[in-house]
Amino acid sequence: MRKTEPRLQRKLLAWLLGPLLVLLVLDTAAAYWVSQRFANLAYDRALHEIAREIVLHVHQQDGQPRLQLSDAAADILLMDAQDRLFYRVDAADGTLLGGDATIRKAASPGTDPRFYEDEFHGEPVRMIAARMPIGETAGGPLVTVQVAETLNKRSRLAFEMVANVVLPQLLLIVMATLVVWFGVSRGLEPLQRLRRAVAGRSHLDLSPIDTHDVPGEVRPLVDEVNELMARLGKTFDFQNRFVADAAHQLKTPVSGLKAQIELALRENDPERVRHSLAQLYISADRLSRLVRQLLSLARNEPGALDTVQLQPLDLHAFALEVSMDWVPHAIKRNIDLGFEGVEHPLTIAADQDRLRELINNLIDNAIRYSQEGGRVTVRTSREADGQCKLAISDDGRSIPVEERARIFERFHRLLGTQEDGSGLGLAIVSEIATLHGARISLEEDIDGVGNTFSVFFQPSEDERATVSGLKAAV
Ligand SMILES: Nc1ncnc2c1ncn2[C@@H]1O[C@H](COP(=O)(O)OP(=O)(O)OP(=O)(O)O)[C@@H](O)[C@H]1O
Ligand SMILES: [Mg+2]
Repeated sequence: MRKTEPRLQRKLLAWLLGPLLVLLVLDTAAAYWVSQRFANLAYDRALHEIAREIVLHVHQQDGQPRLQLSDAAADILLMDAQDRLFYRVDAADGTLLGGDATIRKAASPGTDPRFYEDEFHGEPVRMIAARMPIGETAGGPLVTVQVAETLNKRSRLAFEMVANVVLPQLLLIVMATLVVWFGVSRGLEPLQRLRRAVAGRSHLDLSPIDTHDVPGEVRPLVDEVNELMARLGKTFDFQNRFVADAAHQLKTPVSGLKAQIELALRENDPERVRHSLAQLYISADRLSRLVRQLLSLARNEPGALDTVQLQPLDLHAFALEVSMDWVPHAIKRNIDLGFEGVEHPLTIAADQDRLRELINNLIDNAIRYSQEGGRVTVRTSREADGQCKLAISDDGRSIPVEERARIFERFHRLLGTQEDGSGLGLAIVSEIATLHGARISLEEDIDGVGNTFSVFFQPSEDERATVSGLKAAV
């Protein structure tokens, strides 16, 4: 399973620590630069002193400056525990008066001492170069003194200063990391608990997730999941009930079939066997109708909206075509099946197969539940508000007002109904109407007897435009 918490935790840490580390690097660079400046300030002064000291050993002899510094005196002067020092002294005309000739000559030194970085025998050195008067008198002849010093103590001082600045900061960052890690872990603990609670659930448990200690940011997500689970719960209930109902409905006819077959098997008289087979055929036919109705019910559930293919269709012509198929059946029952409708097309958006099923179920009921010699009328018309109406009327027994809503429920039949049927036809009609966004109403027929089932469809977009055009013209 993919864990979300460590990823979030790592992300937060990366966002907090990344910039902190960049700051630390910048800070170290700045500290190093400043430290070097201070180290130079401190040690350059000493270098200047040595240069002055060396000049004190330059004297005038025969009008020429001479450096009188013994090696031993020079060693003492240039002695240092950590660095090596070198010097050279040049007369104003450029002649070397003493010291190390391999020191690179400074370019045009001034009377103010100049400090700079240079190289001596491949090693970096700090150099002072200055022109100074000999004999400690300001007006004396000038000589150029250069003193070079290796960088050991300067580097060490700079390093120590940087370490003193950076180490506490590094420590601070490590502590900040620990605090942030701990804080984020604690902050995300409710999410972990939530994950454990969901992971530990049975697949049948659709009760809502407890939201009382869920963090505010995650609450809307959990609420949505709870709502989804509630919807899933309803769908499961619905399907479980449907399967139970279907099994119950199938059990009786299948037992009936078995009993009839057993009876037929015991018969010896070919004529009676034939009669039993004819009965069996009727029963099997009923069973197959029940199975068809069940399949249709499942096919037209509200969730089936994706499979509906709505296309422009002329309700008037289509209802007439479907009604014509029922004429032979109506004649057989001696029922006067009529059709009344407007001549011009009533265009609606409909799924043709499903609409046929809707009309078939309503006409089937009207013929089935009317007395022989009765009258069934299919009508199409346009309402004042532009809706297209399909009405199927009969003159049979009126359905009591208190039953009018219930007969659309699955498996519900009126008490005392003798005719075959399983109580699914109107449930299918209702589902198909819903898939079409249509509304159904049930009233007595115009003359106050029988029943009229009316279905109101919204006109299709094109039709709406035509109707409003017509109205404007009127
Ligand atoms: N036109 C009608 N006139 C009188 N009663 C009707 C009419 N239409 C439906 N009913 C009553 O409503 C009940 C439900 O009808 P529905 O079409 O849902 O199921 P069914 O006709 O019993 O079975 P089937 O699933 O085969 O259609 C019927 O059993 C009948 O009692
Ligand atoms: Mg029916």
